[in-house]
Amino acid sequence: MSGKEFKLGLSFDDILLVPHYSNIKSRKDISLRTQFSRSITLNIPIVSANMDTVTESRMAIAMARAGGIGVIHRFLSIEEQVREVKKVKRAEQMTIDDPFTTRKNVTLGEALAYMQTQGVSSLLVTGESGALEGILTSRDVRFKTDMDMKVSELMTPRARLVVGKKGISQARALRLLDEHKIEKLPIVSPRNRLAGLITAADFRKTREHIHAAKDTEGQLLVGAAVGVKDGVERAEQLVRAGCDALVIDIAHGHHARAVQLLRALKKRFKKTDVVAGNVVTARAVSDLVRAGADAVKVGIGPGAACSTRVVAGSGVPQITAIMECAAAARKLRVPIVADGGIKNSGDVAKAIGAGASSVMIGNLFAGSLESPGEYYIEDGGAHKMYRGLASREAAYDQAKREARAPLEASLLTGRAPEGVGFRVSYKGEVGRILENLVDGLQSGMSYSGARAISEFWKKAEFVRITEAGMKESAPRTNQA
Ligand code: XMP
Repeated sequence: MSGKEFKLGLSFDDILLVPHYSNIKSRKDISLRTQFSRSITLNIPIVSANMDTVTESRMAIAMARAGGIGVIHRFLSIEEQVREVKKVKRAEQMTIDDPFTTRKNVTLGEALAYMQTQGVSSLLVTGESGALEGILTSRDVRFKTDMDMKVSELMTPRARLVVGKKGISQARALRLLDEHKIEKLPIVSPRNRLAGLITAADFRKTREHIHAAKDTEGQLLVGAAVGVKDGVERAEQLVRAGCDALVIDIAHGHHARAVQLLRALKKRFKKTDVVAGNVVTARAVSDLVRAGADAVKVGIGPGAACSTRVVAGSGVPQITAIMECAAAARKLRVPIVADGGIKNSGDVAKAIGAGASSVMIGNLFAGSLESPGEYYIEDGGAHKMYRGLASREAAYDQAKREARAPLEASLLTGRAPEGVGFRVSYKGEVGRILENLVDGLQSGMSYSGARAISEFWKKAEFVRITEAGMKESAPRTNQA
């Protein structure tokens, strides 16, 4: 040995939070509000991973409704990834900017077919110049059998319509819907041009998800991953689609190419937060923040499907990585996302207590209803696939998707993979998994006497445990 001292690297199972005096009566008294990045606030500190077996629009919608955020993976064409982002942005919005429309002389048959293909229960009727002329709702047509009738004979005409003016406040819109007992409120410009639609159904959805993480327009928050290859071009379209945060997806984030991409993104998109990573050292955090990062993602090799540490012999145990990076990031006023290795709610509490502002999760969410793909039955149980992005399976599919030659695909998959793939048990709706994680985190904070995450950072005290301590921590049965 050269005489260099070894630093100690600790992971989740090496430590426990030491309980402190607490006078917190109920979990309701604990706030989980946090920063995902410099300008994005979440109501729970949980992020779903940008992996092709974890986050597309369905998962991202569930995450944002619960108060967190999902990051749409980048192993899609730019158009497909943009479509996924748009689905999240449209899932809950106060004003539908481009509602579906029809014309007065269209037949009932045609109008119904259009309503069905678009999955809507009403159409706004407009004239040549976009002027609002009426509304046709499912109530207007429910007992009609003559499919040749014209929309003009069935619609509620403009003269009898209650409308809102462009720029109407949410409170006023709600009052109009309520007073007139209507489901739809068309929005018009001063010259009666159709400018949008507000629906009672959207207000109901908003009330159901009171903790939802939303932008200033009332739309759900969503992130999207970009890589080195087409990062700026992809980001251009993602930002135009309304993506709230760009997440740089690079295994080794403290790399010249990662810094170059980060600088390019920050130069091009002044109003969109960029999350950089993955890194595990204080030096890397300060380099990325200096290059413009609005949050830094921490974790090399802790993930359930990662084999980087085995293949490359590189990485830092996750708790040490979080503590070191969080200390550096706090001084620079940038939040840390602890990415990978979360096995249970206790690990979420440890990661946040160690200084992270949020945790990114893959494996625990991969078996849920909302992860991409259907479950399959095998060995008498329901399962879904989970795999590392650098796994042989993922690389093969990526090559296939990009229609690269089979030879090239085989060469690519022949490289030592730094990820693995395996099946996970199907677990149903991700909302239930989230509830358990949130409950456990709040319980952990309560044991530390902390009512908010910033207080938790100050109060969290850790004890290092031995293997015997770890054995003692796990529930045991069949004791003599
Ligand atoms: P969990 O433990 O929640 O971790 O499943 C999710 C994180 O794992 C990372 N990831 C990888 N790391 N090789 C790696 O070394 C891979 O193939 C791989 N795929 C995903 C990623 O940071 C993710 O968020």
